[in-house]
Amino acid sequence: MTPRADRGVFVTFEGGDGVGKTTQAALLQEWLESGGRTVVRTREPGGTEVGVLVRDIVLHHRGEVDARAEALLYAADRAHHVATVVRPALARGEVVIQDRYLDSSVAYQGAGRVLGRDEVRRLSLWATEGLLPDLTVLLDLDPAAARRRLDAADKPFDRLEAEKAAFHDSVRAEFLALAAAEPQRFLVLDAARPQGELAAAIRDRVSRLLDGGADPLRVGAPG
Ligand code: TYD
Repeated sequence: MTPRADRGVFVTFEGGDGVGKTTQAALLQEWLESGGRTVVRTREPGGTEVGVLVRDIVLHHRGEVDARAEALLYAADRAHHVATVVRPALARGEVVIQDRYLDSSVAYQGAGRVLGRDEVRRLSLWATEGLLPDLTVLLDLDPAAARRRLDAADKPFDRLEAEKAAFHDSVRAEFLALAAAEPQRFLVLDAARPQGELAAAIRDRVSRLLDGGADPLRVGAPG
């Protein structure tokens, strides 16, 4: 791969809970760093100090959070994170690998809930001044299979994870619809495939991106 010094590359991982985003993000980081790239590994919600506080509200508050308030909390986390972590890293020419970004907001806050996908997307684009990833890896998995993985890992209580199966099915459908609408940005992979195969497919796509000339600062069309 040819390192491009002038601007960085922004890669996000998306998918339901328990599909293996964190594992694949870590493998990609390892591979890029062994090739001499500087990588910033981060996540939403919770990629900054402010974000950790917001994450605590949205994920661990046990009472009802109004839908608009919830969407604004994720957007607030995102605005601060992009302004203080993501954009500075891209400006330094680094690779940003991020667990979850605006597609999670559209899929979770926009699907099966009170808010529409377009307004949720517009809110995020406003919050981030239009920053879209160069590549979004969607790890697609049947929510029932993901649930079994989470149970096996004995993960702690998570308000959204506890919601019912129908919600997770609609989140999955929403992610797939987002990917279909932006095929150039998305790489959709069957997350039931072996870890090594998934990692290789992701490396292949990222190395083409690093050789190519994506524009991480391009502005997304609102809605
Ligand atoms: P994640 O950090 O992947 O959870 P964990 O590390 O605990 O497995 O995501 C936390 C939850 O936040 C997940 O259920 C999806 C949800 N979420 C939204 O609803 N909207 C958003 O914009 C984001 C970024 C996450």
